[in-house]
Formats: sequence, C-alpha cells, structure tokens
Amino acid sequence: MSIVISPSILNSDFSDMRGELAKIAGADYAHVDVMDNHFVPNLTLGLPIVEGILRVSPVPVDAHLMIEDPDRWAPAYAEAGCASVTFHAEAATAPVKLARELRAQGARAGLALRPATAIEPYLDLLPEFDMILVMTVEPGFGGQSFIDGTLPKITRTRKAIQDAGLDVWVQVDGGVSRSTIERAADAGANVFVAGSAVYKAEDAAAEVQALRDLATA
Ligand code: DX5
Ligand code: ZN
Repeated sequence: MSIVISPSILNSDFSDMRGELAKIAGADYAHVDVMDNHFVPNLTLGLPIVEGILRVSPVPVDAHLMIEDPDRWAPAYAEAGCASVTFHAEAATAPVKLARELRAQGARAGLALRPATAIEPYLDLLPEFDMILVMTVEPGFGGQSFIDGTLPKITRTRKAIQDAGLDVWVQVDGGVSRSTIERAADAGANVFVAGSAVYKAEDAAAEVQALRDLATA
C-alpha cells in the first residue's frame, strides 16, 4: 500500500499561496479544505480560489468538500482539475451517482465520514470510490487533537477493503502529526493529511519527509 502525504493548507498564509504551496513540493498532494459555514461552522474558500491554487500548485490538489449539497457543487471541482474530490457521506443525496460523475471527469472520488459516522452502511459502495476519508477530528477547524476513538473504524474500513479485494485508499485528516501518524498507519490508513503539523513547523518540507518516514516505518 503506497504511503501518500497530503498537507492541508488550511492554516497556511493565504496572502502567499504560491509560496506556501512551494513548501510542500515534496508531498504527494495539496489538501484544500472547502467549508461553507453550513455543513461545518466555518467558512474558508470556494471554486474561484481553488482554480487559483490549481494554477500555482506544484502537486495535484486533493479537495475536501465540507459543504452541504455536494451533489450540486462537487463535479465543478473535478472539472476544474482537482485530482481528488472528497465529499461527505452525511451531506450527499446520491453518493454513487456523484462518485461516478467525479470519476467521469477524471478525478479520484473520495467519501468522507465524520467521527461519529459509521463505515458499515457504506461498505457496499466501496467499489465506487478511490478513497475513504475517516475524519480523526470533528471537521471544521485545524489544530484539534487526534481522536483515538476513530482508530477501530480505520481498521474496519481497511479490513473491508482488503476482504473485497479492492484498491481503495484510506485517508486520515485531523490532528495528524509525528506523535499520531504511526497509530493511524498501524490502524490501516495510507493517506495522511497534516495541516498545523506541517505549516507550524520551522521547515515544512522537512516535516513532510519526517511524516512520510514515520508512516512508512
Ligand atoms: C479540518 C480539516 C483538516 C485540517 C487539519 O476540518 O478537514 O484538513 O486542516 O488540520 P490539522 O492537521 O491541524 O488538524
Ligand atoms: Zn480536510
């Protein structure tokens, strides 16, 4: 299973997006958090800013949509060129139809679960997705503590994927740092989003490498 590092730019300096993105050129993706102040109590950025990010990012963009009505909005992110588009199970009306639309646009399709949302109702849908995002904090803000109670869900998700013989990535997002990434990797995650751990580090590029080494070990 390949190890994938996708730093979140949520807590980077938005006045210097080009410079902040350049720091993570050694990562696999740039994780971009879209929040609408409805699905989560925070507002970040939308499609016009993502289009700007796509123009200057040295790595493919991994869009995490924390928005209501992703059925309406998500395909535009794929069409704009995001390599991966993840929407929330709790917000989608027709997740399979939406995942197929994203894939038809050439994007990887991701399904995200809040900490309290079980994977079991979605197991039959696994073949429709390229990635399951198990949120390890309540979505909405960076800088929160990793919730260890999500580890069994990561393990159940990975086991179900293996049992079905599928190649679906398992992403963790929230509170991922040098002190938590090994637990998440051991539980079965292979895609690691880290926001404050990378952007609060003195050397963001070195932090990306350190996280990769810990996850690979
Ligand atoms: C939270 C976002 C995360 C956030 C992670 O809702 O989905 O991507 O940026 O930030 P850290 O790594 O600081 O928990
Ligand atoms: Zn995120």
